[in-house]
Order: sequence, then C-alpha cells, then structure tokens
Amino acid sequence: MISLRELENEARAHLAPEVHDLFAGGADDEITLRANESAFARIGLVPRVLSGSAERDLSTSLLGRTIALPVVIAPTAFHRLAHPDGEISTARAAQAAGTIMIVSMAATTPVEEIPGDTWFQFNVQPDRELTRYQVQRAEKAGCRALVLSVDVAAFGHRERDLRNGFDHLPDGLVCENMRDAAGVVRRIEFAPDLAWSDLAWIREISALPLVLKGITHPADARRALDHGVDGLIVSNHGGRQLDSVAATIDLLPDITSAVGGRVPVLLDGGVRRSTDIVKARALGATAVGIGRPVLWGLAIDGQRGVERVLSLLREELDRALALCGASSLDDLSEDLLRW
Ligand SMILES: Cc1cc2nc3c(=O)[nH]c(=O)nc-3n(C[C@H](O)[C@H](O)[C@H](O)COP(=O)(O)O)c2cc1C
Repeated sequence: MISLRELENEARAHLAPEVHDLFAGGADDEITLRANESAFARIGLVPRVLSGSAERDLSTSLLGRTIALPVVIAPTAFHRLAHPDGEISTARAAQAAGTIMIVSMAATTPVEEIPGDTWFQFNVQPDRELTRYQVQRAEKAGCRALVLSVDVAAFGHRERDLRNGFDHLPDGLVCENMRDAAGVVRRIEFAPDLAWSDLAWIREISALPLVLKGITHPADARRALDHGVDGLIVSNHGGRQLDSVAATIDLLPDITSAVGGRVPVLLDGGVRRSTDIVKARALGATAVGIGRPVLWGLAIDGQRGVERVLSLLREELDRALALCGASSLDDLSEDLLRW
C-alpha cells in the first residue's frame, strides 16, 4: 500500500458495511466531510529551491515534549470495532512512531491499559461526578493532557448510522472509560449548557494541561486564551457534528493569528497527504491530528496497519520538505502557499 488513499479503499474489505459507514460517515449531507479534504487541494504550494539540506528534521515540540513528526492520533471511538486489539495496537503504533495518541472517552479499552504517550479526550457529562471520576482516572493512568471536546453540545445527525440502524456496540464491547466509580458502564450524554465558566471547575479537578478540541471561531480562540487553556485543536469533528462548518484548513489562519503563538494550535480533518501537513504548518499549526486513516490502518492490519499509516506520512513529509527546500518544519511559512 503506497498511500493513505489506497489504505482507505482497502479497509472497506476488512469491515462490515455498517461499521465502515460508522467510521467513514459525517453529519447530514456530509458537506463538511468532503470540504475538509477538498479545501487542502485548493491551496497551491510555491516551493523554494537550492535551500534544502541532506537531512530533514521532522520533529516538533508540543506541550513540553518532542514528538518525532507533527502528526498525532486524533481521538476516535471504538477501536475494537476495527480490530480485536483495538486501542492497544493504535497506542503501540503511535509509540513506535514517536508520537502521541489522544485516547477517546469512547474507547473500547480501559485507559489504564493503553501504553505510551497519551492525552485523554472527554466530553463533560451532565453527571459532573462521573466526569470528575473519568478525568482523575485518566490522570492516574498517566495521560499527560486533557482534551475537552467543545463541539458536542448535541449528537451529530449521522444519517448513514440511522439508515443502518447502528445504535449500539456489539456484545462484548463497551465504552470502558464510561464506567463510574461502581464499575457500571454509563451511556454517553451531552451537556448543551456547558459554558466557559465550567473550565475553572475542570482546572480544579485536574492539574493536567487542558486543550480545547473543536474551536472554529477566532473569537472563541481568544476567549480560550483568556481562560488560560494550554492548547487548541481546530476541528469540526471530521464533519460528524454540525454539517456545513467550514473546512478546518480554511479556518486555521484566523485562529493562528488570534492566538499569536501563545499556545500550540493543532488541526484535524481531512489530512491525507504530507502536503496537507505542510499547508497546516505553513499556516501556523504546530501539528495535525488524523482520525479515519488510523481506523483504516487498524482494520487492515492492527498495529502494523497503523504503523504503516504513520510511516507513509513520515516518508511523504520528509520528501515534501526536501522538495520545498526546507530542512525543518520551522522553514515552512505562509509565503509557500497560494490560493
Ligand atoms: C469514527 C470516528 C469516531 C470519532 N470519535 C471521536 C471521539 O470519541 N471524540 C472526539 O473528540 N472526536 C471523535 N472523532 C473526531 C476525530 O477526533 C477527528 O476530529 C476527526 O476524525 C478528524 O478528521 P479525519 O477523520 O478526516 O482525520 C471521531 C471521528 C471518527 C471518524
């Protein structure tokens, strides 16, 4: 397999149709889902020449740690639907590639069993004691940051799943991180009344750095800075929540200019080629997250499949830097882009 596109096609044969739809699909008319990818294609590169070096440095620093490439695993639910070893395989692949896995609250493996450099993604639950328990569990398990998804005031309207009648996990799989203190698996709920003022409470219950995922408006990025957050992820949830949200790469420049380098800004949504990563870096993102490609790799070949996804991006990125006349990610700036 020589590209993430090929992996995506191949994965279809490894998944039941309703599971494939669950992973691949978006909300409503899937406008945002398509836009995330096509917006990257609209941006042209204007490479520099005669300024490269024999070795390229792909590493970047993120919340005080160095990662080997500017790609993290975005949080996605239910990895054991893709492969029996689920999140453990994903985490080992991330570890082998020298990067971070963001573990989903909807993971099918307990956070305590997931190895490597991890962050924990959660949605605040109406039962705040449950959230407190989950967050403290993740901190105890060694997760190094909290990722609060702020784009889930309601559940996205995913028509593929409605059509397929996919509304619960098969027997034997549960959202392991939805267990309460008594060990009972609770249903994931939404908290439409979650407000900026709740961030102070999250700070009280955990000492971990706090990253907000699902920021799209520059005014919210500024507000997040006022509330002392440690990082932002520009994300429209891979087109699975509000349809018609603009493509993340189109949203990125206003956010990075509002943030002005004060905290790291990540982007996810539609990253399928290293040139997408080059464009995101040139517009000020520290790193990108990948969601679906990880699930495709996992479905095809477990840990090795996810390793393949990450190594393909690494090889492509190294080549793209050489062809842009860059020796490190810091050489990528907005003057390399035209659109
Ligand atoms: C099957 C699936 C499950 C997801 N589950 C979660 C989740 O549990 N929490 C979350 O914050 N985002 C979740 N996301 C969104 C991803 O974190 C990410 O924003 C998105 O997948 C990025 O787009 P991409 O798939 O085009 O790379 C999920 C996405 C997919 C495709």
